[in-house]
Amino acid sequence: MVCIQNALIIKSLNKGKYTMVRDNNTYFPSSEWLENAHVNSIDKYNEIYEESIKGPDQFWASVADRIDWYKRWDKVSDVDYNEAKISWYLNGKLNVSYNCLDRHIDSGNGDKTAIIWEGNDPSEDKKYTYSELLVRVKKIANVLKSLGVKKGDRVCLYMQMIPELSIAMLACCRIGAVHSVVFGAFSADSLRDRINDSSCKILITQDTGVRGVKNNIPMKENADKALTNTPSIDSVVVVKRTGVDIEMVSGRDVWWHEETINASEDCEPVEMDSEDPLFILYTSGSTGKPKGVLHTSGGYLVYASYTHEIIFDYKKNDVYWCTADIGWITGHSYIVYGPMSNGATTIMFEGVPNYPDFGRFWDVVDKHKVNQFYTAPTALRALMKEGNTWVESKNLSSLRILGTVGEPIKEPEWKWYNKIIGKENCPIVDTWWQTETGGILISPLPAATPTKPGSATLPFFGINPVLLSDEGEEIKGNNTQGLLALKTSWPGQMRTIYGDHKRFFDTYFSQFRGYYFTGDGAKRDKDGYYWITGRVDDVLNISGHRIGTAEVEGAIGKANGVAEAAVVGFPHDIKGQGIYAFVTLMTGVNSSERIFESIISSVVKEIGPHAKPDKMQFAPALPKTRSGKIMRRILRKIAENDVDSMGDISTLADPSVVESLIKGSIQV
Ligand code: WTA
Repeated sequence: MVCIQNALIIKSLNKGKYTMVRDNNTYFPSSEWLENAHVNSIDKYNEIYEESIKGPDQFWASVADRIDWYKRWDKVSDVDYNEAKISWYLNGKLNVSYNCLDRHIDSGNGDKTAIIWEGNDPSEDKKYTYSELLVRVKKIANVLKSLGVKKGDRVCLYMQMIPELSIAMLACCRIGAVHSVVFGAFSADSLRDRINDSSCKILITQDTGVRGVKNNIPMKENADKALTNTPSIDSVVVVKRTGVDIEMVSGRDVWWHEETINASEDCEPVEMDSEDPLFILYTSGSTGKPKGVLHTSGGYLVYASYTHEIIFDYKKNDVYWCTADIGWITGHSYIVYGPMSNGATTIMFEGVPNYPDFGRFWDVVDKHKVNQFYTAPTALRALMKEGNTWVESKNLSSLRILGTVGEPIKEPEWKWYNKIIGKENCPIVDTWWQTETGGILISPLPAATPTKPGSATLPFFGINPVLLSDEGEEIKGNNTQGLLALKTSWPGQMRTIYGDHKRFFDTYFSQFRGYYFTGDGAKRDKDGYYWITGRVDDVLNISGHRIGTAEVEGAIGKANGVAEAAVVGFPHDIKGQGIYAFVTLMTGVNSSERIFESIISSVVKEIGPHAKPDKMQFAPALPKTRSGKIMRRILRKIAENDVDSMGDISTLADPSVVESLIKGSIQV
């Protein structure tokens, strides 16, 4: 049971304001409109939380009634972490696209705006009602069928933030195909590897993309490069976004608009089992190639839908905006599946926060009268740095709830968000979760949980976090710190790594038996609040993007002349973490601008521009133990410029390496 000290439950003093009381650093939800919230007091939170932990199956059964089932489940859950076996709503039958579209039309909301698409250029936007969207979904679903896509086949979506991306996702789930969205900044090589890992049959992409000042991102050209070595791909569907000339390969490539124009508007949703795969989304781990995180239909939808409604206190006429890219899990769960299963109006934004100027986010909020705004701390830091003049001329009075995701939010940006954007009147939900968790696991509830800047606060209903010692012992009590793990399952949890169930077990369940290990560290303060301290493995969080050090090292290693590389993170003002690469060159090769450039281009080619190192140091040798393992702890200290106490270096094969690394930190 989560214990909130009594002192924290005092009623707020100042109605209409999200007031600061006690310790000068605890904020209480108190606006009048919050009194009508789904969960409107900490007592209510505690009550429901307790119930959810005492009787999880009963709790999750009642939650699952929020969506439409062709057939209800026989058993709520069947979970064994020792075998990495996770099933929810066993033998339940549903269709996700039916729940995100038809259901709202059937209940009289067909004319409601489902998606507001805001283009990169502020003069461009489009609205789609639920009825319009359904027609488009059915048409492209029929096109996919005519291209041979059957239930269970994988379809890769490599697109920027254009409406067709959401439409294609919903079309896949209508016919039982499994989508694998690949973030539009990934390189041709990354796209190829992802297509091959899950043997996708079809690729959907676009001619070129626009994003900020970039007005010709070569999506189709990248796709063509990737497709030189992807035997499973039969056809490519291309959306005309910019209309620039691109090459179409005859017999393989078709245009979206040509194929859909005469496609039938009839397409019955396929009945899916709860545990039929819904999508694969690749994410970085500490070792090896990216993992294809697999989510299934029933549990994922229930969890995305429920968390979206409760955590954002979503109400029927709200306009909700999550600024994430659909290429990441946040976009899947909180632009598409959560909001759309709730019949919400969800905004899809093609652009970036600083184009055409630093006021863009706030212009969009005013233009569409956004009620809930959900973004990443890195974006807030970047905007905060530009000063308040970009905000002062905006109205922002439609805003009710603010959210953050993806990385720890630090106090300065939290306070800026609260004061300058929220006018001290909008609760901030700092939501902690992962690609693997499908939805938010730790977060305040906006009208119930007193917040503290920097803390994701308390577990959501049914979520059972624990802190473990390095030896795997549960650390009880408050005012403590450890490794963050989950003791029990929840419906949105991933089910496997596509094609490699053993890796699923090894990655998440082998180190600490009986727990799901998150890879994050956390503190639990005196009030039982969680403060995420960051990854404890070799995964970096660069501007909220998850990147494995091993992937970057591999990409650097492919550049000519490179003998070895080690990559660590360092604190970065805007990005949260930056990438610091230590590189040793082959004997006889000297560091030069040319080598530097070729390393950078290798990273861009192998992964994408978002993984470019921020700093690079050429070093004669890397610090290794006698068994040949690189001691990253030392490299981290050098990258952080904290070289006064290097700790114990006696286990190094050659301790003098450290000295030369410190001396020679020629950073490019
Ligand atoms: C980090 C993104 C602190 C964490 C939804 C996690 C956070 C990783 C927060 C997952 C938060 C996410 N506070 N850290 N509110 N949210 N993280 O898979 O390290 O892209 O393990 O999922 O981001 O990143 P992923």
